[in-house]
Amino acid sequence: MSTAPPHLSPARYHGAAILLHWLLAGLLVYQFALGLRLDTVSGAAKFTAFQLHKSIGITILILSLARLALRLTLRRPGEVGEGVQKLGARLVHWAFYGIMLLAPLSGWIIVSTAKIKVPTMLFGVIQWPHLPLPAAFNQPAVLAHTVLVWSLPALIALHVAAVVYHLRKRDEVPGRMFPGRIAGGVGVASGVVWLAVAAWLGFGGPIPDLWSRSSVPPTAQVASAEATTQRVAASAAPEPNETVPGAEVAVSCNWTVQPGSRLGFTAHYGSDPVSGTFRKWQARIRFCADDLPRASIAATVNLASAATGDADRDENLHGASFFDTARFAQAHFTASGFKLVGPGRYAVSGNLSLHGVVRPVRVVFTLVQRGAEAAAQGSASLSRLAFGVGSDEWAATDQIADAVAVQFTIRATRAK
Ligand code: HEM
Ligand code: HEM
Repeated sequence: MSTAPPHLSPARYHGAAILLHWLLAGLLVYQFALGLRLDTVSGAAKFTAFQLHKSIGITILILSLARLALRLTLRRPGEVGEGVQKLGARLVHWAFYGIMLLAPLSGWIIVSTAKIKVPTMLFGVIQWPHLPLPAAFNQPAVLAHTVLVWSLPALIALHVAAVVYHLRKRDEVPGRMFPGRIAGGVGVASGVVWLAVAAWLGFGGPIPDLWSRSSVPPTAQVASAEATTQRVAASAAPEPNETVPGAEVAVSCNWTVQPGSRLGFTAHYGSDPVSGTFRKWQARIRFCADDLPRASIAATVNLASAATGDADRDENLHGASFFDTARFAQAHFTASGFKLVGPGRYAVSGNLSLHGVVRPVRVVFTLVQRGAEAAAQGSASLSRLAFGVGSDEWAATDQIADAVAVQFTIRATRAK
């Protein structure tokens, strides 16, 4: 770790150290500019910009660890100057290492402890884990990230000023961070241009969408689920006669929901779909295809049973900002007045009572019925804000879209 005695010191930094110096300098400046841009984009572009910021940031973390390992193991040119000058150079260089490691680390903590955890897909390919830390780390990490990243321009200014000072003194320092026989002046000028290009790309360059492959918009999911249902309905055998020939007994129009039925929802975080299911719900269904005016449904959903596969996110979903299950434990949906809108396809407008608000919601579904068994698959789209679901910072739609898709698959048997 210490500098080698003068007669053993190399004249310039090792090629790998030089390569990493310039690669990291460009990435850091690009990342800083991209970070400032995060606030200026919205909708799906915001999601993509954040994924890019996280991908580049984690790359910086990994490359900086490699650079630190080289710094601690390879021989390097001797230190120059005396006293304050020498101390200043040391401080600036170690502060750079601190930022290169702690800025990405604090960013990683922010996303790991956010209320809604959006998965990090490095360049759309590798899923990067979240750190297992409590939510209390979030605010300090945001503060640390801001302070660390804003120290970067100040350090770069000091660092470049020192290099220019050595350039004017015509000593060997400026040339040590460039390969081969590149003269210090040419190298320093190229370095400044390189950083300017990186800043320009970060502020205004394209944000490649490497993430669209991994995120299917919920509307597309609903559409494809409906398309599947249509195919099932089309290939199903014709519905057998519902009444047993010669039987006197009237066939019941009441249905009992069977295990395996599912009630799910898909919200939209940026362009990232977040899906979940309600584990506890029940429905009273009265339906006979030849007596639609008397058909009805009454469903009750236990909102605290909503599960999205992430315990922290679920806690937040049940909490005061969203469902507020302490005050509104259940949602109710009642509907009658079913209409046949296509072969085996029905629509009904009902009333949904959710979060203390009652609003009409239209449901469309496909029904396949075989004797005493029926399978229905359908969906509805509703505005979460119309029900007041999402308060404070979640009342804006730039992070979580207003439209939420509800999907269900019901298997039922005819009550005796
Ligand atoms: C984000 C931008 C930059 C960072 C983070 C950075 C970081 C560093 C660090 C940590 C060192 C110490 C080498 C070590 O011990 O590993 C160093 C050395 C050096 N850097 Fe930079 N640098 C940046 C930009 C620049 C620019 C723009 C120039 C030139 C215009 C430059 C020229 C040099 C030179 C010549 C040295 C060798 C100094 C010596 O031998 O004492 N750097 N840089
Ligand atoms: C050296 C690497 C990094 C640099 C230079 C950097 C730079 C920035 C900048 C300039 C901002 C805007 C700050 C402001 O508006 O005041 C920002 C915000 C942000 N960065 Fe980074 N970042 C880095 C690494 C990361 C990493 C690795 C992650 C996550 C894995 C990350 C996540 C975030 C987040 C979530 C925000 C928004 C924070 C907020 O809520 O205000 N950053 N970053």
